[in-house]
Order: sequence, then structure tokens, then C-alpha cells
Amino acid sequence: MKIARFKFSSAVTTVHFNSSISRLAKLAGKSRAIIITDENVYAAHSGKLRGWDVIVLKTGEEFKVQETVDAVLMQLIRMEADRETLLVGVGGGVITDLTGFVAAIYMRGLAFGFVPTSLLALVDAAIGGKNGIDVGPYKNMVGTIRQPAFILHDLSLLNSLPETEWRNGMAEVVKHACIHNRLMFDKLKVLTIPALRRNRKKLSDLVFENATFKLKLVQRDEWERGERKKLNFGHTLGHAIENQYEISHGEAISIGMMAACRISEEILGFHEKEEVKMLLEKFGLPTSALYNREKIFQVLAMDKKRQGATIQFILLKKIGRAQIQKIPLARLKTYLEQK
Ligand SMILES: NC(=O)c1ccc[n+]([C@@H]2O[C@H](COP(=O)([O-])OP(=O)(O)OC[C@H]3O[C@@H](n4cnc5c(N)ncnc54)[C@H](O)[C@@H]3O)[C@@H](O)[C@H]2O)c1
Repeated sequence: MKIARFKFSSAVTTVHFNSSISRLAKLAGKSRAIIITDENVYAAHSGKLRGWDVIVLKTGEEFKVQETVDAVLMQLIRMEADRETLLVGVGGGVITDLTGFVAAIYMRGLAFGFVPTSLLALVDAAIGGKNGIDVGPYKNMVGTIRQPAFILHDLSLLNSLPETEWRNGMAEVVKHACIHNRLMFDKLKVLTIPALRRNRKKLSDLVFENATFKLKLVQRDEWERGERKKLNFGHTLGHAIENQYEISHGEAISIGMMAACRISEEILGFHEKEEVKMLLEKFGLPTSALYNREKIFQVLAMDKKRQGATIQFILLKKIGRAQIQKIPLARLKTYLEQK
């Protein structure tokens, strides 16, 4: 177990790496905790949540919407939650996003913590304080940036994580390597999902490296004025197709990363696209898709990263070196139509 404290502008997040959910009792302290989780996680781990007040939500991205938020708010009122209540999201990225968002708005703000239970949430979604919901096809259109009081890792919870969700998590891991470091990328070439599932040390090393990378990056640029934008690599197109085609977040950003690699080739002379493709395919992730380009372009044009007639796109100069690039929307449309 390793405990590290990360200071942000208005809060300190304590991260308990390689720990156990049994520590939750200590972390909740004197405050009254209410756990928010989803049906799958609850079905697999209800024994570990016995004795806590729990709100169990339906599973899936389609429930990361205002209607769910309203239902949770009503339930919190019925449970007489007050300003001393601590909300704890125990689940994947949908649950951590929803919990953080509800915590930001209920009674103008409650403290909250996360126990991420998917690989994707461990290395990405639980970190950085961006919490929000979708509006129709527009991903994370409404939200807040507010840091959790703690992130508690219990890797044994991943014993019940389905194979497809391991693949989804690896998409964000590949993203980190692409934007950050060639060494990280090369290490992934010799890693497999079965090895990660078998070998707890390999898993905890991967989670530690990726979570620490994101935590430190967010510390340097909490409000996404510069460097943090690089984490959006693959996400601009990825987000546009995710909710239109009901594919998973990991699959969507895998397709988005390949599209960004192709645009990087044209604009920056990036020449390592095939290496990225091979790595994504090794982890069972899709690298292309047939989609209605006109429809996707319309969603893309409403992306949060749009500025007037341009959109900020994250491109690769080479593996390990990302660049923020403004692309005119008209030009982006041409790129999308080409492939
Ligand atoms: N806030 C951020 O910075 C950020 C970053 C990346 C992704 N996200 C968001 O995260 C979401 C994707 O996260 P996700 O892939 O974890 O989604 P998810 O929460 O839907 O979890 C994926 C699936 O795995 C199941 N699951 C999770 N943990 C399990 C476990 N231990 N055992 C059994 N089943 C388990 C869930 O029930 C669900 O069916 C998207 O909404 C995305 O927008 C947010």
C-alpha cells in the first residue's frame, strides 16, 4: 500500500494505491457516508458494502444523464443527506462522473471520494476532478471541475471486471503512452491483458504509473488551459461517435486516436501510425469504423474544444510527443471525408 497526497487549487486528494475497500471506514471519518454504485458492481461486491448506506444505479453510459442526477438528488433528500454527508462513488467512470457531479451541486457542494472499480476509472476517470453528464449525443456537455477528497484503490475489485472492460481501460493507457513517453509505449508492446489479470504486481505497477502521470499533469494544469488538453487525444472524434453509435468509451477513443494519427500524418508528418494501430489491435480495440461522417461532423462542431470556426485537436509529432493544434472546421471535415 502507498498513500500519496496531491495538492490542487482548492483541495488535497489523498490517493491510496494498492489498498483495500475496508479502509473506507477510516476515510469516511466522522462524516456520514453514502455510497453510489451501479447494479453490476453491487451484484459482484455487495458483501463488501454491507453496513453502508448505498444508492444503486442502473448500469451504462445512457444513464449518465440529468434524469439520473435528479433521481439521486431525490434519494439523497429522502435519506436526509446534509452538508456533512460524504458521497463515495464505487464503480467505473460513469459512477465516478455522476457521483462527483451530484456532490458538486447537492446543497451547493458535499465532500466526495472514489473507489474506482474499472481499469479505465483507476487510470483516468477517477482522476482530475472533471465530473459531468451527457446531454443527448453530446458527451460530458454539463459538468464541474472539483477534486475528490480521496481515491481509494482496491485492485481485488477488478476480479469481477469483464474482459471487454479491460480492453476499454487499455485504450486510455495507450493514450497516456502516446502523448507522454516512448518508454511507456514500448513497455505496453510486451504486456497482455491476461498477464495483467494474472499478475497483481504488473497491474499495480501499470495503475500506479498511469494514475500518477495523470495526477501530476492535472496538478500542473488543473483548469485545462494548456498541457491538460493533451489528455483529449482521440477524444474529440471519439466523443462524437460514442453516444451516436452506443459503443464503449474505450472503443470510441481507440477509433478517435487512429483518426488523430491519420490527421497527424498529414499535418505534422507523423510516421508511427502503424505502431499505434498494432498496439491498439493487440489489446482487442477497434481502429476504424464505418460511420455517417456528416452526422458525426455536426456533433463534432458542438464539441467543447471548438473556438469559433476552428477546433483544438490533439495531434502527435511522434510517439510520446503530443501537440495542441487548431484546425479549421472546414479542413477537419475534408479530413474526415477522405477516410
Ligand atoms: N472524468 C474524467 O476525467 C473521465 C475520463 C475518462 C472517462 N470518463 C468517463 O468514464 C466513463 C467510462 O468509464 P468506464 O469504462 O469505467 O464505464 P462504466 O462505469 O460504464 O463501467 C464499464 C462497465 O463495467 C462495469 N464494471 C465496472 N467495474 C466493475 C467491476 N469491478 N466488476 C464488474 N463490473 C464492473 C460497469 O457496471 C459497466 O457495465 C465514460 O462515461 C467517460 O466519459 C471520465
